[in-house]
Amino acid sequence: MMILLPLPAALVTQPPRFGPSPEQQAKTQADHKHLLEQLKLDGLRPGPSGDPKAPNAANADEAKVTPYTLPDALTLKNGKKVASRKDWEARRKELFEDFDREMYGRTPKNTPRVTWEVTETIKEKKGEIAVVTKKLVGHVDNKAFPSIKVDIQLTLTTPESATKPVPVVLEFGFIFPTRPGAPAFAPPLGTGKSWQEQVLEKGWGYAILSPASVQADNGAGLREGIIGLVNKGEPRKPDDWGALKAWAWGASRALDYFETDKDVNAKQVAIEGLSRYGKAALVTMAYEPRFSVGFIGSSGTGGAKLYRRHFGEQIENVASSGEYHWMAGNFVKYAAGSLGPNDLPVDAHELIALCAPRPVFISCGSPFVEGNWVDSKGQFLAGVAAGPVYSFLGKKPLPSAEMPKIGEGLTSGELAFRQHEGGHTVGPNWPYLLTWAERYWK
Ligand code: GCU
Repeated sequence: MMILLPLPAALVTQPPRFGPSPEQQAKTQADHKHLLEQLKLDGLRPGPSGDPKAPNAANADEAKVTPYTLPDALTLKNGKKVASRKDWEARRKELFEDFDREMYGRTPKNTPRVTWEVTETIKEKKGEIAVVTKKLVGHVDNKAFPSIKVDIQLTLTTPESATKPVPVVLEFGFIFPTRPGAPAFAPPLGTGKSWQEQVLEKGWGYAILSPASVQADNGAGLREGIIGLVNKGEPRKPDDWGALKAWAWGASRALDYFETDKDVNAKQVAIEGLSRYGKAALVTMAYEPRFSVGFIGSSGTGGAKLYRRHFGEQIENVASSGEYHWMAGNFVKYAAGSLGPNDLPVDAHELIALCAPRPVFISCGSPFVEGNWVDSKGQFLAGVAAGPVYSFLGKKPLPSAEMPKIGEGLTSGELAFRQHEGGHTVGPNWPYLLTWAERYWK
């Protein structure tokens, strides 16, 4: 049975999404079942509901958060404290191995080549600003398995007046409708300027990568897309990569292209995303050292939220057939039998730590508008817990371990956090993100 998650109230401001067809649902169920068989699991614990009024609603009461102990990012598995850069390199290897095996899966060593083609160059205006937009397709070499075709969709927009390569904000987003006749996505909240205009006003450019063109956002698609292509149409093994890693791989390929485009300063590229794409943005930032800064929007569980914190969305939700495809197959084990979040070898603060020393901004909305599903405090606390690694590397952690008020940004250092007054969007935080990033892009 597919566990259908009622959408948290917070998500009503979200762009409409199209539910999977019955055929896709059946494919997803079959793949999820096949995974449980590989792992020799009879079933998984169901997750709590995202509907705050449901009898099994996810915990939203601070008083009911059970105590937990986080693994120490700065202690090696042999018990030794990280004391030198060399120790940290060794610890990073350990962390990547744990995240690869148990959480996000292993990106294959030999992924096929991508050849970028500019399919259209458009001179247009965004607000008052004259820009050049390139539509790009990244053709993935599929000689090894021609029945699966992967064409990565990307757009790049830079100010026409730029006289030198500009920094770029790359967003995981939606470019082309996923289905013919699909309605346009909702405009950003408020009446202010779009994030794209705000970026252009800084003299920078922006790019949008379509994650679905790299890897479908469902279990049914795991034998297609880049994951299916590498596996030659076969199902995943439990430590194979999930969609978050595949999307991150796509972002790295976009960066390869930027390195060849004279309009882009490829040393100053930010990765940004919201929600599932916020998770993808954080995974990208951790795994791809060429990204300069990360804007991590309302990423919740699987992103910046601490798994060990019993509040909002839980491991069981992510392990369910609706979301497991984001992760490695091995991850679902932690929603079965005697295993739970405390058994995870790593927690979200260590994913943030893997981005260090590069700047990361954790963004969320107001719990009163966005709801508690994303657990903004759990994201803040992960940021706090990643702090010692930033300090160790000579960078500024969050300046306080006390959860700030809504609208009170902690943006003085490489680790930044701000909870805006709106809902499930990055929207109101854009001006703060850009002002903060400007410090690092001087
Ligand atoms: C669901 C899911 C979240 C995810 C969100 C989104 O609410 O449970 O983990 O972040 O969808 O991507 O919109």
